[in-house]
Amino acid sequence: MLQEAAVDGGRLEEMLARRAGGEPLEQVLGWAEFCGLRVTVTPGVFVPRRRSEFLVERAVQLLGAHRRPVVVDLCCGTGAIGVAISHGSEVELHAADLDPDAVACARQNVTMGQVHEGDLYDALPAGMRGRVDLLAVNAPYVPTDEIRLMPPEARLHEHHVALDGGADGLDLHRRVAADAPVWLRPEGTLLIETSAAQAERTAAACTAAGLRPTTLSRDESTLVEAVAPAVSTRA
Ligand SMILES: C[S@@+](CC[C@H](N)C(=O)[O-])C[C@H]1O[C@@H](n2cnc3c(N)ncnc32)[C@H](O)[C@@H]1O
Repeated sequence: MLQEAAVDGGRLEEMLARRAGGEPLEQVLGWAEFCGLRVTVTPGVFVPRRRSEFLVERAVQLLGAHRRPVVVDLCCGTGAIGVAISHGSEVELHAADLDPDAVACARQNVTMGQVHEGDLYDALPAGMRGRVDLLAVNAPYVPTDEIRLMPPEARLHEHHVALDGGADGLDLHRRVAADAPVWLRPEGTLLIETSAAQAERTAAACTAAGLRPTTLSRDESTLVEAVAPAVSTRA
């Protein structure tokens, strides 16, 4: 793949050296395959994982009957999840991330939608409150102390803000769940990627926020799907 991507021998040498130094293949190539799409990946930005394709497939199922649904890819990284959900269908897509490198990368990938920069929901225009049909979230969920156990590709070459979920890994999940009812329309859905070991606590955070959670698993992928109340609770 590197040979194909390199325009000349010098470039190949440089790419090989980066890969041999532990940089993820996708960051060296500059792209990753996700849901059959080629997504641009820039240095330091989280490489979209195959397990997240489950979230995309479930989102597409849920949106089947909607006309031009409002979809938010929160903690978007490259924007791969939002781009894949909206591929081939009419969606009002908003992607958002805190990390300026991720935002710049997502702006290359999200050609039919908007990319916002900021801390979780602070990034979104206020007018979107109570209008979101689907919140698709793959936020960091690695407990801080477990980052050192991750492969060097992640530990050394993806920004820690993309990995670090706080002491139990669930800091972001609690914050995402707590404010989801403000942004979701009545009966809108929060889809949040988690791990099998953390799913019960991710679901509990959703229940505490007044959402109705269900846990879905397939192979190595676990999701919590949480539905907002039928009557809006937005502030
Ligand atoms: C695990 S990565 C996932 C990226 C992308 N959703 C994907 O699946 O490829 C988590 C992302 O959350 C972003 N992030 C971390 N804390 C955030 C916050 N407080 N507000 C917005 N984004 C945040 C990181 O910059 C990173 O891009």
